[in-house]
Amino acid sequence: MAKLSNATIVSLPTLEPSCDISPRDHTRATGRPTSYRHLDFKLKVMIMELTLNNGVTMPALGLGVFQSPPEQTTAAVEAALAAGYRHIDTAAAYDNEREVGDGIRRSGLDRSDVFIETKVWVSDYGYEQTLHAWEKATAKLGVDYLDMLILHQPAPDRFEKTTAAYKALETLLGDGRVRAIGVSNFMPHHLEQLLARTDIVPTVNQIELHPYFTQPPVQAANARNGILTQAWSPIGGITFYPGFGEHRKKNVMEDPAIAAIAQAHAKSPAQVMLRWHLQQGRSAIPKSTNPARIVENFDVFDFELSADELASIDALDLGVRNGPDPDVARLANFARVISEP
Ligand SMILES: NC(=O)c1ccc[n+]([C@@H]2O[C@H](COP(=O)([O-])OP(=O)(O)OC[C@H]3O[C@@H](n4cnc5c(N)ncnc54)[C@H](OP(=O)(O)O)[C@@H]3O)[C@@H](O)[C@H]2O)c1
Repeated sequence: MAKLSNATIVSLPTLEPSCDISPRDHTRATGRPTSYRHLDFKLKVMIMELTLNNGVTMPALGLGVFQSPPEQTTAAVEAALAAGYRHIDTAAAYDNEREVGDGIRRSGLDRSDVFIETKVWVSDYGYEQTLHAWEKATAKLGVDYLDMLILHQPAPDRFEKTTAAYKALETLLGDGRVRAIGVSNFMPHHLEQLLARTDIVPTVNQIELHPYFTQPPVQAANARNGILTQAWSPIGGITFYPGFGEHRKKNVMEDPAIAAIAQAHAKSPAQVMLRWHLQQGRSAIPKSTNPARIVENFDVFDFELSADELASIDALDLGVRNGPDPDVARLANFARVISEP
């Protein structure tokens, strides 16, 4: 067992063949051919856990599934779990909670071995509505509790409803229907307002965070309040995938400084960015539906960035947001109805 920042690295128990990992799944997860004979292999995977402010531990690295088409999500989740991930980040608004649940069941792992995080969408804000959002999410996922339930947006145009939604999260936590609660895209002023009106400090704040946009004031506000910063678009997907901000000029995946560090460690730019998050104590949830990239993004526990390398990545911050501004109400988007199970 090794210590890294506020995190603990533990070896997962060896996965035995009885875990239902078929050769096809193993190949899909590792990109290497295999056969049942090779299922004698000792799949030793390292996992790094972060302790939240309520004592619950959460694997630092998880699989994100935003924009993962439902028909590819089950396979992506299965591949991730076979590769050693034990944390999946989904959302009601991603419309793939059902397929996430299917992937977890098909992995053969126990429900309690996988940390499931999902998000309440804005159209379900309000006390009763958010209690019902828990019903919808758990029914779609096919589980009877969630590990982490967070509010997807601060929605400052209706902050009374946001506050009521958070109070519902507090109730769900008190009832043991969720193990931890949190928020996403909350800026320091949103956090301040929420903390003034509610009782339980969020465990995480999931925000846009990659080398070109590091949001130091938000990270500082999180740290001041004992809230863990969780990076969305941790490898900068929002700087290059289609459909977001045609104003974008720079793709962080092609940054020369990151490429040089990657070359020095014989790693990829994505692996360097993920290692940077982990060494700075953040949770990161890279998305991929590609089996080889899913494995690549988890293969980050065998190298270490120096203090200079970490600082040179920090210095790449452009201070320009690529995703939506959390202070701007997107009425049509916020009104999107989350289906019943
Ligand atoms: N709370 C929020 O408002 C919010 C907003 C956005 C995202 N999120 C969460 O954060 C997760 C991750 O963020 P994200 O999806 O925006 O971006 P990301 O994980 O930084 O990047 C995903 C993009 O990178 C590609 N990719 C993955 N691994 C790669 C690798 N090793 N090399 C090169 N390309 C790679 C993926 O394509 P392939 O699939 O083809 O590999 C995809 O286009 C989401 O899935 C979601 O769970 C939350």
